[in-house]
Amino acid sequence: MANVAVIGAQWGDEGKGKIVDWLAERADVVVRFQGGHNAGHTLVVGDKVYKLSLLPSGIVRGTPSVIGNGVVLDPWHLKSEIEKLRGQGVDVTPDTLKIADTCTLILPLHGELDGLREDASGTGKIGTTRRGIGPAYEDKVGRRAIRVCDLAHLDDLGPQLDRLTAHHDALRAGFGVAPIDRAALLDQLREIAGFVLPYAQPVWRMLHEARARGRRILFEGAQGVLLDIDHGTYPFVTSSNTVAGTAAAGTGLGPNAVGFVLGIAKAYTTRVGSGPFPTEQDNEIGERLGTRGHEFGTVTGRKRRCGWFDSVLVRQSAAVSGITGIALTKIDVLDGLDEVSICTGYRLGDQVLDYYPSNASDQKSVEPIYETMAGWQESTAGARSWAELPAQAIKYIRRIEELIQCPVALVSTSPEREDTILVRDPFAD
Ligand code: IMP
Repeated sequence: MANVAVIGAQWGDEGKGKIVDWLAERADVVVRFQGGHNAGHTLVVGDKVYKLSLLPSGIVRGTPSVIGNGVVLDPWHLKSEIEKLRGQGVDVTPDTLKIADTCTLILPLHGELDGLREDASGTGKIGTTRRGIGPAYEDKVGRRAIRVCDLAHLDDLGPQLDRLTAHHDALRAGFGVAPIDRAALLDQLREIAGFVLPYAQPVWRMLHEARARGRRILFEGAQGVLLDIDHGTYPFVTSSNTVAGTAAAGTGLGPNAVGFVLGIAKAYTTRVGSGPFPTEQDNEIGERLGTRGHEFGTVTGRKRRCGWFDSVLVRQSAAVSGITGIALTKIDVLDGLDEVSICTGYRLGDQVLDYYPSNASDQKSVEPIYETMAGWQESTAGARSWAELPAQAIKYIRRIEELIQCPVALVSTSPEREDTILVRDPFAD
């Protein structure tokens, strides 16, 4: 019986929320391992819609949920997300939610810096969520972060605060912003500590115990492989490793604990924020995909850029992340098109490439090579078996499988959790 890691195989927003919710019901523990409240997972359960940014998706159904050490945690956001869920009737307690005491904290100064940098970057804007994710990870790697476990020892934080403020005050001076008010920061931390600490513990211990007892662990990734700090479209990426390998380092379990890697990919492509996007359709097709697919960001409300499925990128994501099977989502958004196209390679000058080059200017210059096939007029919305899919839609899915060199394990045909075609059960592997 495998554990399962769910990761995005494109630029995020692939519809992970629904798939994770579906798997979470059968998992014993759901654990997040990277990112922070930049993620946006929408869960539709019955007639209720839950929007999560930081909490693992298992929380909605009462599955024990863990925030692993690889996550950067904004404690004030944590409080407001928990309170909002409570308002929707979901109980969140230290029994159902455990937070790694080694998580790096996102402080108000991180969000501020994120915004200041974006505003000062002109055409070099990354288009971040402005939630302080990048600056918090920088402080973690710079060894000046304040972590969850420090909330229990705020009076001992002197040297760490010296390092933090020395670094940030220099940056802030450059932006013409007042230095950090240490006393005010400590007061804020003192106030929130009582809320966070009951959830905090060395979660690697309970995860090891869960594993030893044969419990099923679901690792819930955020963002997508193309936003990975190493493997993504650098510098237009997030600040964490989003590949499946992080499921181990970001939780305190070894790589052999990960098991089945389920990559989520939309039947087309979207991206929010700046950066290269070879198959982008800045035209009627893109508008149609955006409208039918309701392509607006969960976190920032920004309109997502839309384009054709890019098999080169998804094949690359599958390779660098060790994806075992793909969950193909939102196939119904393509219903009614006369023709559908898939990118199968790139032209760069007089070269033809079967991979995405690493350099930002090459990434911007490549021209996609398309394969175009007839679309389908019938509806795929709500299909729960292959027999309910039009022949052309099946042909499209099979061609994608061939091109990405990875089997499709699930097909999702609507936001409803039951509207799913199961080809291979990740937990049964
Ligand atoms: P950051 O993670 O806020 O630093 O933003 C860096 C880039 O990642 C920007 O292009 C964001 O739009 C993108 N991004 C971050 N989180 C998500 C997500 O959950 N879905 C899609 N894009 C995201």
